[in-house]
Amino acid sequence: MSQTSFWQENFKIGSLSIPRFMAAPLDGITDSPLRQLIREFSPHELLMTEMRHISCVANEKDQRSLQFNPIEQPLAFQFSANRHEFLEKAVEMVIQRGFVMINLNCGCPAPVVTKSGSGSALMANLPLMEDLIKHFIKAINGRVPFTIKIRAGYKIKNAVEVAIMAEANGVECIMIHPRTQPEGFTSRLDFDLVRQVKQAVKVPVVFSGNLNNFMAVQRTYELTGVDSFMIGRALWGAPWKMREITDAAQGQKFTIDTATAVQYALKHLNLNMHSFGPRGFIPFKKQLPQYIRSIVNATEWRSKLLRSQSEDEMRGMLDVIRQEHA
Ligand SMILES: Cc1cc2nc3c(=O)[nH]c(=O)nc-3n(C[C@H](O)[C@H](O)[C@H](O)COP(=O)(O)O)c2cc1C
Repeated sequence: MSQTSFWQENFKIGSLSIPRFMAAPLDGITDSPLRQLIREFSPHELLMTEMRHISCVANEKDQRSLQFNPIEQPLAFQFSANRHEFLEKAVEMVIQRGFVMINLNCGCPAPVVTKSGSGSALMANLPLMEDLIKHFIKAINGRVPFTIKIRAGYKIKNAVEVAIMAEANGVECIMIHPRTQPEGFTSRLDFDLVRQVKQAVKVPVVFSGNLNNFMAVQRTYELTGVDSFMIGRALWGAPWKMREITDAAQGQKFTIDTATAVQYALKHLNLNMHSFGPRGFIPFKKQLPQYIRSIVNATEWRSKLLRSQSEDEMRGMLDVIRQEHA
């Protein structure tokens, strides 16, 4: 098999055949508006929702979590969980909505999540993690693939043990961000550990961490042999990023100029207003700085934009910036 065809070929998670590149879940960032913009550039790649707790879904505490535009498909739903109460109901709701995969978050390092035993804390409680996996597999009953997203470990690196246990219980893909909980999102990535995970299981392994360009992807593949590559923070304020990488994998160059980037910021603002209502410009403040990082006088514009009190004020400034860079 030539290198080129490896990058272009789909791989399989259970019965689902998808491209080798996918978008990572980023809580507060990869919401429906951003996913719709990613889809404009990357028509076939798997997208994932932000993590939501099973009880939050089952009790409809966050009405928005199950909503998406059909163009976002194929779209996986990510749960967090620390007990199996409400699990069956939440799974049923997600499957009825048409999500093509269910993923369990076993990697979130945030203390607000781990203190309840969810996220990466599951990696320090294998009996609970195994129990949850068994319950998910039973509730899903083969209707969509069930996958997990793990870290290197909680405090101690046990990803190999976790992956073997998960595969033995029917998990169909292991996604891994190779840092421990205290390492957060910035320390050195443990490529060797991912290579060991890949060698220990037959199900596909997806790598997540610092994949900002195709060179990083190639190096990761050489070091680990994983099946698939997840693009995370690189998509923040740059929904075209996965396209840049997939085009580079085919020897092509895809670029977006500054004026177009600002145009996409405006488009993102529109989608936010549509999704979140009249105050939709406020959550957009989290996305905005990334879109304007390469404009002239970025720092001054950023602080002015972040002080906007209305959608119109924000839109007006973005229009000026767009014209200045046209
Ligand atoms: C702000 C933020 C939110 C995140 N939210 C989630 C989440 O909801 N679920 C999850 O599995 N991982 C989450 N992650 C981890 C990412 O999916 C990814 O594994 C990590 O950022 C490393 O990849 P990157 O370097 O490509 O961003 C989050 C990371 C960040 C920085």
